[in-house]
Amino acid sequence: MRAADEKIADIAIIGGTGLEELFEGFEAINVGTPYGLSYTIFIGEIHGRRVAFLPRHGKKHSIPPHKINYRANIYALHKIGVERIIATNAVGAINLNFKPGDLVVPHDLVDFTKQRQLTFYDQAPVVHVDFTEPYCPEVRKVLIEKARDETGAVHEKAVYVCTEGPRFETPAEIRMFRALGCDIVGMTGVPESILARELGMCYATICFVSNMAAGISGKLTYEEVLEISRIVMPKIRRIIVAAISALPKIRGCSCPSALASGKPSGGA
Ligand code: HPA
Repeated sequence: MRAADEKIADIAIIGGTGLEELFEGFEAINVGTPYGLSYTIFIGEIHGRRVAFLPRHGKKHSIPPHKINYRANIYALHKIGVERIIATNAVGAINLNFKPGDLVVPHDLVDFTKQRQLTFYDQAPVVHVDFTEPYCPEVRKVLIEKARDETGAVHEKAVYVCTEGPRFETPAEIRMFRALGCDIVGMTGVPESILARELGMCYATICFVSNMAAGISGKLTYEEVLEISRIVMPKIRRIIVAAISALPKIRGCSCPSALASGKPSGGA
């Protein structure tokens, strides 16, 4: 392993539950950040583009969602030159039209986390980043196209709600989230998406439904999440590989200038 402080990748993949081994054979690095050492990041090449792969729960799935050092991970990706992040998340379906195995590219989110470090801007100047469009439209578009090519069907719009975990939700919580307009529930989409935006990085996620959410069809087990992830992993891998080669080299979205309107004028 070597320490990294140079531009070595411009696209990152963050793999979730069951997808730790999405990209094998890449070179492993750890990156020092003001927030601690990042988890191991794997560097490789896909269709001529330098790609970083970060399994967010660690390679052996040993870090629970509420203990992930999101700031170190996102800062590390930024530090090695990453401009775009494609994430994957296992989710429970709240919307009854969604079924286990379905792929979903959410367009909006609701934050129900409780004790996470949500920002890089803890000190002056006070910064309020625009989050009207939490996921990068350009990366979403490519993910939707490639998911459609691969499977013929993908949920192109959905509201993702992030809970603190690590426990699953109660049936009453799921009924509340449904009443609020949420379609899918997971434990890791926040603050990853927020931190990426704060650094002007593009971020979008391709989620897979691993189970119906609590109270819809019996008790939830972590085993069923893993079982579905094993089935969808090859599909998601192909979609991400196709998306990487289809992404335009130059970003055409407004993510890079996200902070322009969030800082006080004349601020540092
Ligand atoms: N709830 C929260 N997170 C999840 C679920 C769920 O039902 N399934 C997979 N991740």
